[in-house]
Amino acid sequence: MTQIAQLRAESISKQYHLPLNQPARLIWHIGTHTMYLEDSVNNMRYHIDWHEPLIQQRLIRANKKSEPLLKAIWRKKSTPPSVIDATSGFGRDSLLIAHAGASVSACEQNPIIASLLKDAIQKHTDIEASSRIQVHTGDSIELLQTLPSADVIYCDPMFPPKAKQAKSKKDLAMIQTLSTIYPPGPPELLVRTACKHAKSHVVVKRHANNPPLHTKPSYSIEGKLVRFDIYLCNQNELL
Ligand SMILES: C[S@@+](CC[C@H](N)C(=O)[O-])C[C@H]1O[C@@H](n2cnc3c(N)ncnc32)[C@H](O)[C@@H]1O
Repeated sequence: MTQIAQLRAESISKQYHLPLNQPARLIWHIGTHTMYLEDSVNNMRYHIDWHEPLIQQRLIRANKKSEPLLKAIWRKKSTPPSVIDATSGFGRDSLLIAHAGASVSACEQNPIIASLLKDAIQKHTDIEASSRIQVHTGDSIELLQTLPSADVIYCDPMFPPKAKQAKSKKDLAMIQTLSTIYPPGPPELLVRTACKHAKSHVVVKRHANNPPLHTKPSYSIEGKLVRFDIYLCNQNELL
């Protein structure tokens, strides 16, 4: 390793609070043109590729009348709302919301995931929606106090992983593993804080069987596996 590379590696190790050059299951690679997280046990590399067929198909199929997430975010609006995605993770939902026309402030407390998301936005200049996503690194419980308020705040806190998982679910399992290194703030407090800051409403994604994270929602949009709980913050809005 050259001296410059060594200095850069030391500074990255400090920035991400990670040990340098030690045998480990997870290895964070940052090169001049590449950035990925390697899981040396499962032999997997994690980076964000928005050209993946599953992601592209979801974008092509999604419309505001049929896609529950978009229905929950837009409600009756015809113009795109401003949105804070308070738990952006690998940014799949942020991308879908931006693809439908909204500007999205994507907040992520895990600095590795936030860096992968920033890298994805820089790489995917051919995907127009990526120009409408702005990434903020930090815990949304604090970020929401300082960011300009938005019409809608979306929260999708951690999903418990299942034993057998499809590729997209493996991303969630990696997020779960990383959360042991960078634990997020309590999800109930996040939703409570979101309800104080949204101009119009808060959308919370839950497993279909899980109870609400906050008080009884104003209403819910139910799917087979997930449910979106909607909290109206502007009491003048009619259901
Ligand atoms: C289930 S994942 C979100 C997946 C995301 N909706 C997507 O489409 O890829 C939850 C993510 O939210 C982040 N998170 C949880 N609580 C947070 C908080 N209080 N502030 C910022 N990020 C948070 C976690 O680090 C994790 O990356």
